Amino acid sequence: MAGEIPKDEGFDKTLSVLKEGYNFILNRKEDLNTNVFETRILGEKAICLTGSKGAELFYDNSKFRRSDAAPSRVKKTLFGKGGLQGLDGTEHQHRKAMFMTLMDDDAMGEIDLLMRKYWRKYFEETGSIETIELYEAAKIVTLQTACEWTGVPLKRKETVERAGQISDLFESPAALGVQHWKGRFSRSKANDWIEGIVDDVRNGKISVDEHRAVYTFSWHRDENGEMLDKKTVAVELLNLIRPMTAVSVWTAMIGLALHEFPGEKGKLKGADDQKIEWFIQEVRRYYPFFPFAAARTDADFEWKGFKFEEGTLTLLDLYGTNRHPDDWVHPEQFMPERFEGWQQTPFNFIPQGGGTYDFGHRCAGEFITIVMMKSTVDFLVNEMEYDVPDQDFDFEFNDIPAVPNDKVKINNYRFK
Ligand code: HEM
Repeated sequence: MAGEIPKDEGFDKTLSVLKEGYNFILNRKEDLNTNVFETRILGEKAICLTGSKGAELFYDNSKFRRSDAAPSRVKKTLFGKGGLQGLDGTEHQHRKAMFMTLMDDDAMGEIDLLMRKYWRKYFEETGSIETIELYEAAKIVTLQTACEWTGVPLKRKETVERAGQISDLFESPAALGVQHWKGRFSRSKANDWIEGIVDDVRNGKISVDEHRAVYTFSWHRDENGEMLDKKTVAVELLNLIRPMTAVSVWTAMIGLALHEFPGEKGKLKGADDQKIEWFIQEVRRYYPFFPFAAARTDADFEWKGFKFEEGTLTLLDLYGTNRHPDDWVHPEQFMPERFEGWQQTPFNFIPQGGGTYDFGHRCAGEFITIVMMKSTVDFLVNEMEYDVPDQDFDFEFNDIPAVPNDKVKINNYRFK
């Protein structure tokens, strides 16, 4: 006999999601003492899952689909329409392969060099007495890296404006009022920009290297041998450029961690690649970024004695799973060395989703993110010095994505 899923009693909890942000699922997991519960969000029943067991269920493609899972406000800002986040089955696998073939060792080496080049250029061009916000600086550096790597031309004079537009896409999905509408406006501007470039590539107006994403995506053929329409190509190119620019959020958190944990910063001086990797893995685990992933059940089924009905919105807690006591010792402590000898499964560490890359919805850019973060840490610790003026380092748990209130200000920088 199937049992009842524990219930988060009361009316629709959309306002509580907005108020509690990253802690929404975690708070109820603790209050109800459960890794699965039922609630109501956006006017419908929703099931929330947390922990690696819940993640394993969530990434079972035979039980969940994505086509009608994402809220419209997320599609109109963050994802764009027609991108692979909303695809299922062979259509998804085929489109995902278009992304994953880009992710080889040469690409990682190039992205590492581009990040270092553009960080150095940024600081060379900024007066050393100026106080800069690391978050805003990182948006420029990451966008320049993304555009050069994908082959999207970026004029010097448009860099700041484009960086603002692209970051509106990830700053606005959970925002209310003006900030949200700014995101929708920027989505249409960004789409127009990239659609124009796709036209130019297809008409031979600009010539690009055949191995650049702007070329391979523009000429990609789907599983039926059809070329993608230019709107979809633009959305998918923005599925590279937008999240690469969003690495600026974790750059701000790197700046915060280096300041909050000076002992850990000390260990990074002259450190090898392995120690730098443990540090950035802990940044990805400890600080929030995406709160949940969303899917819809694609069949009636039972799991751990609980009955799931077809068509139910289901949220997987990404933040809470990375802090789940079943998988992490002292999860509330910042301890990069926890990653020494750590056993990764596809489900126990999911800041960028879980499961598999090729057949599931796990983030296509996880390796790129790790490379971008490692070169940033090495640059900030081993290639330059800077001072950190007094400022507000707090961040809000209902501000998605969370960034320290003063965006991590630094000054008096000099190269070593
Ligand atoms: C900034 C750090 C990043 C975070 C926190 C992040 C997080 C995520 C998350 C949570 C998902 C959804 C997982 C799911 O639905 O189950 C995702 C999907 C995706 N990410 Fe990332 N990501 C990041 C960086 C990147 C980068 C650098 C790229 C590309 C270069 C990228 C490309 C994608 C794509 C294309 C998908 C859709 C995959 C699919 O639906 O199959 N992401 N990411």
